[in-house]
Formats: sequence, structure tokens, C-alpha cells
Amino acid sequence: MMLTEFAQSVNEGLSKKKKHLPSRYFYNAEGDKLFQQIMQMPEYYPTRCEFSIFEKQKDQILKAINHPQGFDLVELGAGDGYKTKILLKHFLAQKVDFAYYPVDISADVLRELKADLKDQFPQLPVKTLHYEYFTAIQEMNNLGQRPKVILFLGGNIGNFTAQRARSFFRRLEAIMKPGDQLLCGIDLKKNPRTILKAYDDAQGITARFNLNVLKRINEELGGHFDLDQFQHYPNYNPVNGECRSYLISKQAQAVKVDYLDKTFQFDAAEPIHTEISKKYSLREIEALAKKAGFRAQKHFTDAKDYFVDSLWLKE
Ligand code: AVJ
Repeated sequence: MMLTEFAQSVNEGLSKKKKHLPSRYFYNAEGDKLFQQIMQMPEYYPTRCEFSIFEKQKDQILKAINHPQGFDLVELGAGDGYKTKILLKHFLAQKVDFAYYPVDISADVLRELKADLKDQFPQLPVKTLHYEYFTAIQEMNNLGQRPKVILFLGGNIGNFTAQRARSFFRRLEAIMKPGDQLLCGIDLKKNPRTILKAYDDAQGITARFNLNVLKRINEELGGHFDLDQFQHYPNYNPVNGECRSYLISKQAQAVKVDYLDKTFQFDAAEPIHTEISKKYSLREIEALAKKAGFRAQKHFTDAKDYFVDSLWLKE
């Protein structure tokens, strides 16, 4: 029987000695909705910080763009474009000659975004790219010759370990052209309690978001998880900057997944690791840019220095 990518990941991840489920599976329709709610929570500061960086520094950001005479703005993982619209609106008002290329693996997200942009900014050229990130950039290299500004916002890079972040940026650098730029939103190291609270909110929305991966296994793979038998547990390590989320089995239990025709055993208090949200210092960000072959040009931070949009140049 052919297994879907999801089924394969679940099978592999739950068969390991240290159980793991990749965080990308949080994001089905329900997970997307929960993440929208997370962004509104008082404890979850990154979205508001990045929003205020764009609001207050949109003009400095525009002035730092290498080729203001004309460029293509590419966004990796565009989502609903909530924050990006601040930049789009400002660039249009300044009569900048640019086109917007949102990239996303969700066709639904791209369709909605395109309709929304057509409505709000009818004069903006938009071409959606329903591809994996690297394919999308390759596609653009084939398409046009204008310099690129690539947006990778929201702290999504935090979902990678340091090693995977390095190889991600190296790969990106290798397919960018000299003079292209990358604006990367990264969550900064700060008071560990502030960070932990952002992933352990009082309303329990993040808990539902984390548990949603088990719900998906039930719905899509015929799993028999009792969500009440798992507890959301986030943990922040200020040494390596990793905020890791786990689902802890409340008791010893066996859970069958019909579609895999397999039963997984959980010990009492055994964790399933589900997410990394890594935080960096500005110094670490500069080192990361350099190791990947970029020149870090400018850091745009919010008033509290909680979050940074860091602008890197491919030389
Ligand atoms: C969308 C990956 C940036 O890691 O902060 C929010 C996802 N997880 N609360 C993050 C998330 C739990 C978020 N990113």
C-alpha cells in the first residue's frame, strides 16, 4: 500500500525511541485557524512586533533595498499577507516599480490572498507561485531578470534546528543572484519567561494547536488517540535558544492507527516532541548570515528588541 507523506512521517516519528511528529502537520484548515488565534493572543508577541517594525520602519526598509528602480518581491510562506500588506501599500504609495510573488504550498491560501490583493491593491501585479520554496525561486530565475527581494517572515526559520537553518540559507544563497536580498523575520533571545508564556498561553489555544497533530492522525489515518490523555508541555532552553513543544502521555497507553495497521506504545510521562521555535541573538544572526555566504546589511528591530527583520545581501 502507498503511504502518504503524512502517514510515513507519523509511522517513522512514533516508532523512534525519542518520539517525534513534525510541526508542519499542525497546519490543516483547523490548525491554520488556531494559528490565527495564537497571533491574536496577548502572550504571543512575535506577530505584533513584526507588524510594528513594518509600520514604523517601512520607509527605512524601502530605502535599504538595493534596486529601488525595479524589483520582484518574493514571499516564502505568504499566508494571509497580513503584515506584508503594510509594505505593499507603502511601496505602491511611493510609486515603486515592483511585482509581488507570494509562494505557498497551500493552493487555498494563494487563491484567497490573490483575490484579497486584487480587491485592495488593483494596480499591484501579483503572480502566485504554488511551489516548494526552492522550486519557486528557480522558476523566477528562469522567468525574469529583475533583482529579487525575498521575504521570509514571522520567525518561521525558528522551526529549524541551527544546523538545518544553516543548510536552508546556504541553499537559498546558492540560487539567489548577486545583488538579490533576503529580509528574514527572526525571534530574538529575551527573558525566558516571556518566551515560555508565548507558547503556554492561559486560554490553552497553543495546547489545542499542538494536540491538533494527534487529531489529524485520528481524522486522516484512522488513529485512536484520546486527546485528553496527552498534555501540552513547552520548554525553553536559554542556552541554545530552543523553545521545544512536547505532548506528554498522561499514562501508559497503547494507541492504534488503523491506516498504518500498527499500535504504538506510550510509557507514562513519555514525550512526543512536536516543535522547535528557536530564538537567536543579533550576534548569532550575523554569524549565521556570514556562514551562509550573505552580508548582513541591517537589523530592523521593534522598540523592545523582541524581534528582528534582518536584511541580508547576496554579494
Ligand atoms: C509560525 C513557526 C513562527 O514557532 O512561533 C506558535 C508557530 N507554535 N505557537 C512559532 C507557533 C506555537 C510559530 N511559527
